[in-house]
Amino acid sequence: MEPRGLGFQVLSGFEIDDRAIGPTPARWNDVDPHRTAEWDVLMLLLAHVVGAPFGWSGQQEGRLVNNIVPSPGHETEQTGASSTVLLEPHTEDAFHPGRCHFLLLGGMRNHDRIGTTISSVREVELEPAEFVELASATVPILPDASYETNPAAGVPTAVPGANALALPTLWVGEDGLCLRYDPAYTPLGTAPERYRRAYARLSDELARHARTISLDAGEVLMIDNDVIVHGRVPFTPRYDGTDRWLKRINVRVPGRHRPPAEDFEDGYGEDVVDPSGVHPIYSVRSASR
Ligand SMILES: [Fe+2]
Repeated sequence: MEPRGLGFQVLSGFEIDDRAIGPTPARWNDVDPHRTAEWDVLMLLLAHVVGAPFGWSGQQEGRLVNNIVPSPGHETEQTGASSTVLLEPHTEDAFHPGRCHFLLLGGMRNHDRIGTTISSVREVELEPAEFVELASATVPILPDASYETNPAAGVPTAVPGANALALPTLWVGEDGLCLRYDPAYTPLGTAPERYRRAYARLSDELARHARTISLDAGEVLMIDNDVIVHGRVPFTPRYDGTDRWLKRINVRVPGRHRPPAEDFEDGYGEDVVDPSGVHPIYSVRSASR
């Protein structure tokens, strides 16, 4: 079931009873878990087919199945709780070496057919010199505002801290070009002009090849997080129980290759919650406790 080629796949045909799941909550922690337990289990089963689902201790209380809903007060953030701004294309949890290999987004409700945008790095066209620039470890990526540990929560143009480690945007993985990209949390102002030009070219190319998928209730979008960047178009939230509602699961594939230098990153202290015990960062940390 692993997505191949461009790095994404939409599974459809699951049925969701719009009334039974209850109104879209105003915040992720207002979800009544009993109403959506069936769907959570289905998403976890799908995740286990691909790899090992995991959560983050600092995000949605470490839950394996996250709820993505527009939330009052978060409208303009660069997080899943936003609404009125474009959620810029990004690699999920790009700041962390333990970020997922696959991201599963499950549609619970989307009456307004609000679009999720995806772009594949496998479609971009760059000059060799631009590739060389973007493959160099030049700028860090900082934690996003959905994490409690973010030193500048809510401020997308955060300044790098002392432990910020520069990392490559592009690398060649086992079966082709891969990326690690989150412009909203990348302090590009510290980079040389030639790097910024190459980064802008990559952004333009990703925009040029963007697809929009309006994830309907009962559809699951599987994204290869090393190949695809994802975002969301702006929309006006209603906050009346009918807003767009997604489920999200992070999945790791044990043994999958990433640049060896990532082993030296500390992930800004953000811990993984991994009930399967296969996550290397979890294993290291639990062994040292
Ligand atoms: Fe995301």
